[in-house]
Amino acid sequence: MQDTLAPPVQLEGLSYALDGAVILDDVDLAVAPREIVGIMGRSGTGKTTLLRLIMRLIKPTTGRIRINGEDITDLRERDLDRIRANMGMVFQGAALFDSLTVAANVGFALVEHRLLPADEIPDRVRDLLDMVDMAGTEHLLPAQLSGGMRKRVGIARALARRPAIVLYDEPTAGLDPISAAAIDGLVVRLRSQVDVTSVIVSHDVHSLRRVADRAAVLHQGRFLAVDAVERLEHSHDPAVRQFLSGSPEGPMTEEPQMLNGG
Ligand SMILES: Nc1ncnc2c1ncn2[C@@H]1O[C@H](COP(=O)(O)OP(=O)(O)OP(=O)(O)O)[C@@H](O)[C@H]1O
Ligand SMILES: [Mg+2]
Repeated sequence: MQDTLAPPVQLEGLSYALDGAVILDDVDLAVAPREIVGIMGRSGTGKTTLLRLIMRLIKPTTGRIRINGEDITDLRERDLDRIRANMGMVFQGAALFDSLTVAANVGFALVEHRLLPADEIPDRVRDLLDMVDMAGTEHLLPAQLSGGMRKRVGIARALARRPAIVLYDEPTAGLDPISAAAIDGLVVRLRSQVDVTSVIVSHDVHSLRRVADRAAVLHQGRFLAVDAVERLEHSHDPAVRQFLSGSPEGPMTEEPQMLNGG
C-alpha cells in the first residue's frame, strides 16, 4: 500500500471547523520526499491544528489526508497506530511527562511499543540526547530543565522511533540563537542522513530561511502563498510581505482575524 513516489504528506481540500468557526478552509499541500516545508502564520490561525490533522489526532470536516499515498482520513485507530509509528511530532510546549526522568520520556515509545530489547534502550536514548545536545541529562526530571532544554528533550522523544516524517511545532521558539541554530542543523541533518521529510510550524523567518525548501503562509484558514522563503519576502502579495517583515501595519492587520464569529 506504500507508494514510494507519492508525497509523504498530502492534504487535499482540507477544511476544519470547530463549533461553527472555520479554522482551516480548503487547504492543499503536497510535501515531497525529503522536503522541509515551513508553516507560518499569526497566532491562532490554525498551524497546530494543521499538524494535528496530519497526525490524524483530529479528523477534518472535509478533504483528504494522504500519508505516503495512503488515504488516512477515515482510518480506524488501530490502523492509525501503524501510520503514526512512522511519524514523529514535536509538540509546541514539549508536553513531557513531569513525573518521568528525561531518559524515560525519551524512551517512552520504545518501551510502550516494545520496539527495542530493554537492554538496548539506554544506548538509543543516549544517542538521541547526544543529537539534541543534551548528553548526560538522563536522570533529570522535566522540572529541573529550562524551557529550551525541555524542547530539545521533546525533539529527542519525537525521533526515538526513527520516523520518516517529522512534524515540528515551533521547535526553536524560546531558544537562544545558538540552540536554535543547532536544532536547524539537526533538521537538515535528518534529511541528508536518513531521508526525513519535515513540516515545521515556526514564527522564526530567519530559521525557516535557513532550513525550509518552501514555506506556507496561513491566513484566515487558507494558504496565501507556498514558496521559497526568499521569494515570499519579495512576494507581490502585500499581506505575505507584511507577515515576513513583521510590520504592524498592512493588509494582514486590517482584515478581521476570524472567519466566523470572531
Ligand atoms: N480544542 C480546541 N477547542 C476549542 N478551540 C480550539 C481548540 N483547538 C484549537 N482551537 C481554536 O482553533 C484556532 C487555531 O488554533 P491553533 O492552536 O491551531 O492555532 P496556532 O496557529 O497553532 O496558534 P499559535 O501560534 O498561538 O500556537 C484558535 O482560534 C483556537 O482557539
Ligand atoms: Mg500552535
